Amino acid sequence: MPVISVPHAFNEEDLYVDLEPMTGHRLYLKCEGFNFAGSIKLKAATEMVESAERSGTLRPDSILVESSSGNLGVALSMIAASKGYRFVCVTDSRCNLATRLMMEALGSQVHVVSDEHATGGLLGARLAHLRALCAADDRYVWLSQYTNPDNWKAHYFRTAPAIARWFPRLDVLFIGVGTTGTLMGCARWFRSWHRPVRIVAVDSVGSAIFGDPPGRRMIPGLGMSLRPPLLDESYVDEAVRVEEADAIRTCRNLARRGFLFGGSTGTVVSGATSWLARHGTPGLTPVAIAPDLGERYLDTIYQSNWVQALYGHDAIADPRAVRAPSD
Ligand SMILES: Cc1ncc(COP(=O)(O)O)c(C=O)c1O
Repeated sequence: MPVISVPHAFNEEDLYVDLEPMTGHRLYLKCEGFNFAGSIKLKAATEMVESAERSGTLRPDSILVESSSGNLGVALSMIAASKGYRFVCVTDSRCNLATRLMMEALGSQVHVVSDEHATGGLLGARLAHLRALCAADDRYVWLSQYTNPDNWKAHYFRTAPAIARWFPRLDVLFIGVGTTGTLMGCARWFRSWHRPVRIVAVDSVGSAIFGDPPGRRMIPGLGMSLRPPLLDESYVDEAVRVEEADAIRTCRNLARRGFLFGGSTGTVVSGATSWLARHGTPGLTPVAIAPDLGERYLDTIYQSNWVQALYGHDAIADPRAVRAPSD
């Protein structure tokens, strides 16, 4: 019986969904949403905070500050509350209402920027706001998930070995990209494993991570309007881009089978499914990572009016795409 005294001590690391009955392809989905922060960002948050404590950067009177589209903000809110730090999250207008309310319930302050930076989009505006806060008060400690190596180390130490433990014959790993912390930690770890693993990064159309021009993106967590400083492309075998409408349709189809996942999981599953359909090698062992669950997206991805207004009717679940349980 697990008994904990701090919320970040619990993280379900060993749960996978077999997606073959739903997608028609052998694909195991690692579920990272079962912890008190509700997402994979718990690992990056814990690693960054505890490393800053060890180095003396974080002191009892420090105020943590970070730019986040939501999930890291929730994880840091939880850890800050548990450890007695103040935390200010700088986010933008794409942050879900539920996520913002959650951070506030955990005692954090949330600053929402809504005007785009002249060249850096909403992310640029968040970073400019954050720099101004740090310049005004030296108690602020910016963990900087976009540049902090402890972000990818969290996945090097935890996510990748956890996958390897259950999939000793892993062939392909599909990873959604935001800061690229998950991607870089897993890719570095598997580079020195006993067998080659194909590392496939899954990004949103409209993201500038792999050099495309930035465009409209509404699904938080995945994609970026700048090239992520943590990214080293020499570790990435392939990058797949997914239209947000396809990601949403995938989420909604999975929900019709009882699995309510977040938007980036729809992106990763959609990208992985088309990759597997193109490469179609039977006997392959592929794993994809699901960063969070769907409750935070009820008023967006799972709200038909929102989907239809932004993406048109085609993005609404297509019942023909859902395989019947007897298929
Ligand atoms: C909701 C969410 N959180 C976290 C991540 C992981 O992103 P990062 O590249 O920052 O590790 C993703 C990427 O898929 C995501 O969608």
